[in-house]
Amino acid sequence: MSKNLYIKTFGCQMNERDSEIMEQMLAQEGYVPAASPEGADVVLINTCSIREKAEQKVFSLLGQLREEKARNPSLLLGVTGCVAQQEGERIRERMPHVDLIVGTQQIYQLPEMLARLTQGMTTRETATDLEGSFAIPPFQKLLINTPPSPAPHSFRRFVTIMQGCNNYCSYCVVPGTRGREISRPVADIMEEVEILVSQGVKEITLLGQNVNSYGKTNKVADTEVDFPQLLRQVALVNGLRRLRFTTSHPKDLSEALMRCFAEIDILCPHFHLPVQSGSNAVLQRMNRKYTVENYLEKVASLRRLCPDIALATDIIVGFPGETEADFQATMDLLQTVRFHGSFSFKYSDRPHTRSAEFSDKIPEEVKARRLMEFQSLQDSISLERNSESIGREVEVMVESGEGNRLRGRTPANQIVHFTAAPASSLIPGTLARVQIDHAGKHSLKGTLRN
Ligand code: SAH
Ligand code: SF4
Ligand code: F3S
Repeated sequence: MSKNLYIKTFGCQMNERDSEIMEQMLAQEGYVPAASPEGADVVLINTCSIREKAEQKVFSLLGQLREEKARNPSLLLGVTGCVAQQEGERIRERMPHVDLIVGTQQIYQLPEMLARLTQGMTTRETATDLEGSFAIPPFQKLLINTPPSPAPHSFRRFVTIMQGCNNYCSYCVVPGTRGREISRPVADIMEEVEILVSQGVKEITLLGQNVNSYGKTNKVADTEVDFPQLLRQVALVNGLRRLRFTTSHPKDLSEALMRCFAEIDILCPHFHLPVQSGSNAVLQRMNRKYTVENYLEKVASLRRLCPDIALATDIIVGFPGETEADFQATMDLLQTVRFHGSFSFKYSDRPHTRSAEFSDKIPEEVKARRLMEFQSLQDSISLERNSESIGREVEVMVESGEGNRLRGRTPANQIVHFTAAPASSLIPGTLARVQIDHAGKHSLKGTLRN
C-alpha cells in the first residue's frame, strides 16, 4: 500500500534540490507526494536557518504540526536541513512530537531511518554528523540514479556540484550548517547531467554555496578540473539548451570564469554575484575579503567580455556598526552597477557567528528604513533595466501556460508573460522568440514571433 509523504521546503536552491532527492529516494520505498500535511503518513520539514525569521517560521510550523500529530498519532514528523543541523539537540529536548531529525549531510539515511520507525524498531531517529555525504559511495550513486521528479519542472533541473562553505563570512551560519567545502567528482556530475538531458531536461543549474572554488578544496576524487573547465564540459552535453550556476563569491571570480560567459553559447548571461555591502569598512567586518574597488573592476571586466550580462546581487542592510555613510555607499554602489535585480535583507544575529558578538547593533527601525530605501531604488533600476528590452525580440524558454497565455524566462532570467496564437502548442522547455512590448519591475510582456 502506498504511503503519503508531504515535504515542506524552506530556504535556498540547495534545500530545494535536497527535498527533491528525499522525495525521489522515498518514492522508491512506495511514498507518493501529498499536497498537504493533513492525513499524510510522513511530514518532513526541510528547514533554513539563514536569518532569524527563517528559523522562526520553522518553529511556528512545528508548533502547528503538534496539533496535526495529536489528531493523527501515526503521523511521522521529521525535521531536516539547516535548522535540524544547528538545533538538533534543542529540537530533541523540547519537541517530543518530532520523530526524526536529519542533518544536511545525512539525508541518504532517510529510508532506513523511516523503515526502523514504521516497523517500531525505534521510537526516534537522529543523524546529524557533518562528514560530507559526497564521500559516501551509496550517496553518489543515489544522486545519479534516482529518477527525475515529474513535471511541471522536469525540463529545468538543479545539479549539486559541491557542498558546504569554507568562507566564514562573519554573519553566516552556512559553514556551520553545511560543513566544510567538498567538491563532487566530475564523472558523477557528468553522469547525472547526461542522464537528465537524455530524459528531456533542457536547462541545468549547477549548485554550490561558492561554485567558483569547485575542485580546489577537499576533493572527493582526484580531479584537476576547476569550475570553468567543468562548465565547458557540461556545456558539451548534446541536447542541453541552457546552463546556469549559483552562487559565486566575488573574491574567487577568475578571468577564466568570466571568459566562459563570452565563449560558452549555452551559458546564460545572468550572473548572481553577491556583494553584500558598498562600504569597505563593512565588507571587512563581514570578512568578505574583497573591496568595493575589486568588485567594480570585476564587474567592468565581465561587461567588457559579455556586454549583455545581467547582474544580480545580495545585500545586507544594518550590519553591526553600519553608519549612514556606509549605507549611502551601498546605495551609491547600486547606482553605479545598476544591478538587474537583488535580494536584500535586514541583518539578523545568528547563533555561533562572529558578528553576533559585535557591538553597535543597528536598531530595528533603522534597518527597516534602510531596507525600504534600498528596495525602492532597486525597483526603479529593475524597471529601467527591464525597459531596455522593449521593442526587442528575445529568446524565451517556456515554463508554463494555459490556452494562448504563456510564461517563460529570458537567458537573463527575466520572467516573460506572452501571448501566442491559440493553436500553438508550446510545451514547457521549448525555446520561443518573443517580441517584448511592455516592462514591469518584476516581469516583461510580449507576443510570440514565428
Ligand atoms: N553562498 C551565498 C549566499 C548564501 S546565503 C554567497 O555567499 O553568496 C544568502 C544570502 O543571505 C547571503 O548572500 C546574505 O545576503 C544573506 N544572509 C546571510 N546571513 C545573513 C544574516 N545573518 N542576516 C541577514 N542576511 C543574511
Ligand atoms: Fe555564507 Fe559567506 Fe559561505 Fe556565502 S560565502 S555561504 S555568505 S559564509
Ligand atoms: Fe538556508 Fe541552509 Fe540554504 S541556512 S539558505 S537552507 S544553506
